[in-house]
Amino acid sequence: MELKDAILARRSIRKYKPAKITDEQIRTMLQAGMAAPSGCNYRPYRFIVVRDEKLLDEIKSYSPHGKYNAPNAILVIGDTARSPHMWGNDCGAATENILLSATDIGLGTVWCAMYPFADRNEPVKKLLGCKDYEEIYSLILIGVPDEEKEARDPYQEERVTVIG
Ligand SMILES: Cc1cc2nc3c(=O)[nH]c(=O)nc-3n(C[C@H](O)[C@H](O)[C@H](O)COP(=O)(O)O)c2cc1C
Repeated sequence: MELKDAILARRSIRKYKPAKITDEQIRTMLQAGMAAPSGCNYRPYRFIVVRDEKLLDEIKSYSPHGKYNAPNAILVIGDTARSPHMWGNDCGAATENILLSATDIGLGTVWCAMYPFADRNEPVKKLLGCKDYEEIYSLILIGVPDEEKEARDPYQEERVTVIG
C-alpha cells in the first residue's frame, strides 16, 4: 500500500475476527514503531505484545473505552527515567507508526488511551510487572477487522496557515 493510502485508510476498528496475529506481523509492526523519530534518539520505550486471551481481557477491563473483541494487543510502555520530557511524544510517534504499519498489512487497530489516567495505568503496570518509572502509554488493540470503514479525507483548509 502507498503511504498516503495507508494514512487515509487507517481507521479505528472496534469489531474483530478471532484470528491471532503472527510473529511476522508483530515484527513488521514493531519495526515500524521503533523506526519513529525520537527526541535525542533516546527511544524511551518497550513493547509488550499480548495474544493471551485471559490476560488481554483483564487488561481491557481497566480501559473504559477499550472493551472491544480484538484478540491481540500491543502495549507501548514509556521509560520516563530515560527521557523525562519527551517520552510521551516518542511513544505517540511509535504508536502511530504501529497503526499505519498494521493498516499496510491488512490489520485493524484501535488506539486506546492509557496515559495519563492513573486508574488505567497503575493496575495494568502491576499486572505486567512494570517498573515504577515506566508508564503504559497506549493500548493498541489489533486484529483482522470484522467491520468495514471508509477511508476519509480529513483535510480542512481553515486549520492551515501558510506563511511565506
Ligand atoms: C490518544 C488517543 C486515545 C484514544 N483512546 C481511545 C479509546 O480509549 N477508545 C476508543 O475506542 N478509541 C480511542 N481512540 C480513537 C479515537 O476515538 C479515533 O482515532 C477518532 O475517533 C477518529 O477516528 P479514526 O481513528 O477512525 O480516524 C483514541 C485515539 C487517540 C489518538
